[in-house]
Amino acid sequence: MVKLTIDGIKVEAKSGDTILSAAKKAGIQIPTLCHVKGLPAQGACRICLVEVEGARGLMAACSTPVVADSVVETSSEKVIKARKLVLELLLSEGDHDCIICEANGDCKLQKMAYEYGVSNTDLKYKGEKRAAVKDTSSRFIIRDGTKCILCNKCVLACNSRGVHGILYKNERGFSSKIVSDDCELSDSGCVYCGECIQVCPTGALYEKKRVGKGRSWELDKVDTTCPYCGVGCQLTVHVDSKNNRPVKVTGRYTTPNEGMLCVKGRFAYDFPLSDKRITSPMIKKNGEHVQVSWDEALDYTAGRLKEIIEKHGPDSYAGVSCARSTNENNYAAMKFARAAIGTNNIDHCART
Ligand code: FES
Repeated sequence: MVKLTIDGIKVEAKSGDTILSAAKKAGIQIPTLCHVKGLPAQGACRICLVEVEGARGLMAACSTPVVADSVVETSSEKVIKARKLVLELLLSEGDHDCIICEANGDCKLQKMAYEYGVSNTDLKYKGEKRAAVKDTSSRFIIRDGTKCILCNKCVLACNSRGVHGILYKNERGFSSKIVSDDCELSDSGCVYCGECIQVCPTGALYEKKRVGKGRSWELDKVDTTCPYCGVGCQLTVHVDSKNNRPVKVTGRYTTPNEGMLCVKGRFAYDFPLSDKRITSPMIKKNGEHVQVSWDEALDYTAGRLKEIIEKHGPDSYAGVSCARSTNENNYAAMKFARAAIGTNNIDHCART
């Protein structure tokens, strides 16, 4: 273990821990923009700068390992000044028009600019801005290069979390940009897991389907389990309750998915309101499916099952339960086959 002092607090950290994680354990928050929990530090945004006694300059807390007996200041005058400068530079390079930005209210850059009192309209640095490249080609994801701060989080998410390898940083210096297979997103190999959107700290990546459907603070957040397969990914549905419609889905940082989702879980959330949904049981009468009450459907099904089993035995029955239903429903289907019917002919579709 390594003992050090952070903001006057005696802290113990494991050798190899960063100042960022040691501070976090001690309840001290250091701001980050490019850091992705559980992935190697990038040191790209420099917002996490801290003062380490005896060091020549300010150090990035996310990539600096703890040193025994060191003394760290996370919010000294020098640190605050440096963070303000970083924010000014980040804001001055892009076109951060918060009024119409979909990330308004969710944007980490916006939150920090507010906290540090850095105004977008009063920047010292008035030079060239990043080229206004907006890729709207894909069905699900919009990429807005003017709001990109090159934090590289989407690249890490795509390569190290999703392991799709579509996004990477191209060119050098001011011309640096994040590209997708060097083509528009719709022509790339992107599988639209949306992990890049989930980690983006600004409005540079966002869901196409949510555009204009409500500000983040107007949406109710409902935690639930993805209904698409048996993995049970945990997600949050952002609901516009005035219009009773889901607007977007984000992954929750818990098991089994740790924030990640697939294209279905993240983007295919419109089905509850689809007019194509079958919401009442049907019985085929004279070759046509006819809507009936649940009582009629259950009586009919029970009667036919009885008839078939009496005539052909319980093994003439086979059931296939559904990955989209709950564990409890699947358990009931298994019990029904084995205990009520008397057969082991029960299976599960395993995935959809
Ligand atoms: Fe440390 Fe970005 S969070 S450099």
